[in-house]
Amino acid sequence: MEMGFAHLTVLLEETISLLQVRQGGLYVDGTLGGGGHTRALLEASQPDGRVVAIDQDRMALDYAREWGKPYAHRLQLVKGNFRHLPQLLGYIGIERVDGVICDLGVSSPQLDEGERGFSYQHDAVLDMRMDEMANFTAKDLLNTWDQVDLTRVFRDYGEEKWSARVAERVVQARQRKPLATTGELVDVIKAAIPAAARRTGPHPARRIFQALRIAVNDELGALRDLLEAVPSCLNAGGRVAVITFHSLEDRMVKKAFQYEAKECVCPPHTPKCVCGHKAQLNVITRRPVQAGEEELDANPRARSAKLRVAEKL
Ligand SMILES: C[S@@+](CC[C@H](N)C(=O)[O-])C[C@H]1O[C@@H](n2cnc3c(N)ncnc32)[C@H](O)[C@@H]1O
Repeated sequence: MEMGFAHLTVLLEETISLLQVRQGGLYVDGTLGGGGHTRALLEASQPDGRVVAIDQDRMALDYAREWGKPYAHRLQLVKGNFRHLPQLLGYIGIERVDGVICDLGVSSPQLDEGERGFSYQHDAVLDMRMDEMANFTAKDLLNTWDQVDLTRVFRDYGEEKWSARVAERVVQARQRKPLATTGELVDVIKAAIPAAARRTGPHPARRIFQALRIAVNDELGALRDLLEAVPSCLNAGGRVAVITFHSLEDRMVKKAFQYEAKECVCPPHTPKCVCGHKAQLNVITRRPVQAGEEELDANPRARSAKLRVAEKL
């Protein structure tokens, strides 16, 4: 993409096609980033479709103010967290829309902006906040959470086999001096993971950095809130598309869609329904949609991407 904000959009055609974007529709992109999905929504809904594009990262919005100029009358930029979707739409006088897309995780420019601390390849302060107004950083987490919680974060969000060892080393290191930089963390991780295990697979710090990013930004909490709120934000026949990059996230999306597709959620063998639950969604993708060979060749990041779509009844 131009102007140095290069983010290769994943599953672009699949998302637009499964959202059934139509002329004149009103759509939300909850994760603007480099704007790949937003632009495609604007194109597919022209000449009069409208898009509300949300991001919690000021950088994404600044960039969109430039590239979005030709679409200004149809594109509304909102700084905020998609976990507050109904409120964010309410502020701009919208109750329901025809489609919502959320493409989770970080954008490539966030990783490339070394000083934000997302990347183990740049030495920087341990920050990792997507929202620069948030007051909890990776440095706070690493220097204050106890060993058990650190182990859990590294294991659950990073799927790191050596989580307990890394957590133990973090606690030892911070007793000498609080951890301050990504470089110091990389050294701790390298010392914790046995040399033989470090020689295979991706960079030894990759999984721990991913885990910290998910925890610092409460990414699973935000997804949970979004999934709970999104049916009430859709018009009948409107669709929601979520792209995940982590098995925990994909499971949350799958379960939430399945739950909202049920007429009754009483425990099995309950003689008479007492839950009062009503189905709100129809699951469109029984299995997650994944990138084809061509996309994988062009964008290795697409390998873990999974797209699920549901329709409001
Ligand atoms: C993977 S990128 C989106 C890329 C975009 N679809 C594109 O094609 O360029 C994810 C973006 O969502 C933002 N983001 C992540 N979680 C968010 C949340 N809970 N609320 C708002 N924005 C979020 C990040 O700041 C990042 O810019």
